[in-house]
Amino acid sequence: MKSENILVLGGTGKTGRKIVDLLGKTNHNVHIGSRSAKPSFDWHQPENWSHSLVGMDKVYITYQPDLAVPGALDAIERLTKEAQKAAVKKLVLLSGKGEKEAQLCEQVVIHSGIDYTIVRASWFNQNFSENFLLDSILDGFVALPQAEVQIPFVDTNDIAQVAVRALLGNEHNGKIYELTGPETITFKQAVTIIAEVTNRAITFVPISIQEYIEGMRRIDLPEDFIWLIEYLFTEVLGNPNNSEITNDIEKILNKKPISFKEYAQKAAIVGAWNIPIKQHS
Ligand SMILES: NC(=O)c1ccc[n+]([C@@H]2O[C@H](COP(=O)([O-])OP(=O)(O)OC[C@H]3O[C@@H](n4cnc5c(N)ncnc54)[C@H](OP(=O)(O)O)[C@@H]3O)[C@@H](O)[C@H]2O)c1
Repeated sequence: MKSENILVLGGTGKTGRKIVDLLGKTNHNVHIGSRSAKPSFDWHQPENWSHSLVGMDKVYITYQPDLAVPGALDAIERLTKEAQKAAVKKLVLLSGKGEKEAQLCEQVVIHSGIDYTIVRASWFNQNFSENFLLDSILDGFVALPQAEVQIPFVDTNDIAQVAVRALLGNEHNGKIYELTGPETITFKQAVTIIAEVTNRAITFVPISIQEYIEGMRRIDLPEDFIWLIEYLFTEVLGNPNNSEITNDIEKILNKKPISFKEYAQKAAIVGAWNIPIKQHS
């Protein structure tokens, strides 16, 4: 296959860096698009995006922090126009399963005139080891709303493999994939699995969304972050349709999706939760 230039936006992030690793084993030229890359790509500096897009054949898009936030639609509209100008031939967009606002951004990519694949993912397993749930796991005390909701957590390794297939294979053009793990579990079950594989005591306490938001305000988290977390807990987790399990990963990769337990066992082995648990008074 002819060597192509592939830009991975968010190429040091949870899905992006795995895509960069996988593409690195092919004959293609992989370029990272992020604030720390050279040239730098910052979603807040659209005037510089063309420097990252010039000469690119294909682009994997992860928007920061989430396609549902105000401003995402304008950014994706501008990015697709810049991509057209740069004669990009294919876009693969990472989207959130069950996020209506994200679907507006998907429509922009779908109608961009450029070949595309949309990859809608459920909540990532890696939120427990690389994202906003990590600190409470390390503290040994997890208090979350929507404790009873069945969530089909998906692994970023599976997402990365699907995204690479989508980037490299024309048979994925024009497709919308919905990626979930092989089963649904609750937050409490997820925390119990992590406690088992790490051999630690981790307390789980169900709380209301309001209590969770008040807790975030007490520790002065930014309002836009609080808005996003509230959105994800109400709009995404509050919608029973988002508990469905899909078989797109199995169809595309011809293997079962990674389960939460497999993820947790591997994350424990590489020391994702190795910092000692603090004492709670
Ligand atoms: N987490 C989930 O459960 C989940 C589920 C479904 C969909 N998604 C979607 O996945 C996407 C990625 O989310 P994530 O939380 O997993 O993050 P992530 O991919 O781990 O994000 C970090 C990456 O984004 C880059 N980045 C951060 N701020 C940036 C900015 N202002 N401009 C350009 N690059 C920036 C970082 O590099 P630098 O620091 O070098 O800039 C890094 O490469 C989001 O669009 C989200 O909606 C997430």
